[in-house]
Amino acid sequence: MIWNRREIFAACVAAAAARRATAADDTVTIPGKRPMILHNDRPEDLETPLRYFDSWITPMDAFFVRQHLPRPAAIDAAAYRLTVNGMVSKTLELTLSDLQKLPQHTIPATLECTGNGRGFYSPKVPGIQWGRGAIGNAEWSGPRIADILKLAGASSSASFLDTDGADTGVAKTPDFVRSLPLKKALDPATLLALKMNGQPIPDIHGFPARLIVPGWDGTSSVKWVVRLTVAAEANKGFFMNPGYRYPKYSLPPGTPARPAELEVIEGMPVKSSIVAPEDQSRLTVGSIAIRGFAWAGEEAIERVEVSTDGGSRWHDAELSSPKLPFAWRLFHLDWKPTEPGYYTIMSRATDSARRVQPIVAAWNPSGYLWNAIDHVGVTVEKAG
Ligand code: MTE
Repeated sequence: MIWNRREIFAACVAAAAARRATAADDTVTIPGKRPMILHNDRPEDLETPLRYFDSWITPMDAFFVRQHLPRPAAIDAAAYRLTVNGMVSKTLELTLSDLQKLPQHTIPATLECTGNGRGFYSPKVPGIQWGRGAIGNAEWSGPRIADILKLAGASSSASFLDTDGADTGVAKTPDFVRSLPLKKALDPATLLALKMNGQPIPDIHGFPARLIVPGWDGTSSVKWVVRLTVAAEANKGFFMNPGYRYPKYSLPPGTPARPAELEVIEGMPVKSSIVAPEDQSRLTVGSIAIRGFAWAGEEAIERVEVSTDGGSRWHDAELSSPKLPFAWRLFHLDWKPTEPGYYTIMSRATDSARRVQPIVAAWNPSGYLWNAIDHVGVTVEKAG
């Protein structure tokens, strides 16, 4: 068969599209990480495969990675300086050891990328097509932002805290700067974390210091923090506007939002995800463990219900980990199907503010905050 130029071009485009479509299924190993689902390699965007979610604390080598810009050159701990400026009585240049001398606090908190679950929206939206794994739960330790701002004498008439990471803008992607309302920055749970799961924060997660804003979207938790600026107004950079905004009023799927009706995301919705069994797996009749995690931003998880018949009947799952704000709880239910067949397993979480996971996640143009009741389909076959 002889192909003309147009057919060859079309075949190349199709082959490239097929490679892209499967790229997220391939696992790759980045130094310090187990094989992860690769969405981008430069900068690294790595999703945690569901099989690694088997503990309350997500090990560092299994924790997802999201960055918009190339990682900054490795920061030398001895040369590191944190500038604290803006509406303060005294501009500070703090060393790592200054930060280590402040009272250290530890908070277990779930970090979830704002776009986790984007791949489930229909119609599709542009951006990384994350599945369930752009999330993890870690123990973060370091000084409170409130204690750092106290040292600098933050003005009582300020309203925001700008946080800048050491990564810098490249080509069309501007510098990553985020603003936090001062009220949230001064919350005792908001930390400048120096440790993750008891170890110095790995380079890829923001060594030597990253912001941890418990209960808010992962975007707020700026990595490689080099500057804190106390300000009267929120930063107007790309990552505050138009980036990371969510429609104030829900939209018909597939329609654009009015820019004036987009708001900065504060807090996270209630959500649960099934990690086992995996979608479309084949199992045999007998005892099957249904497992997953649930979290609710600043609230605690009160209850997780599981259905194995497509949502007709619901059963309370066991919740295994402490009931805390900010941190996820693991759930499990032992299921003993006696008949072969195809089953739809679902999970539905309720939080301490009585928010219940919805059947349909609100479609939005950036594909943020996916939190629909989770479901997977499994085929159960007769043993032997
Ligand atoms: N901080 C800097 N400096 N640069 C970034 O690109 N990405 C943010 C946040 N902090 C980002 C950042 C986003 S979108 C997320 S979801 C989290 O970091 C991811 O944190 P992790 O890579 O440690 O999992």
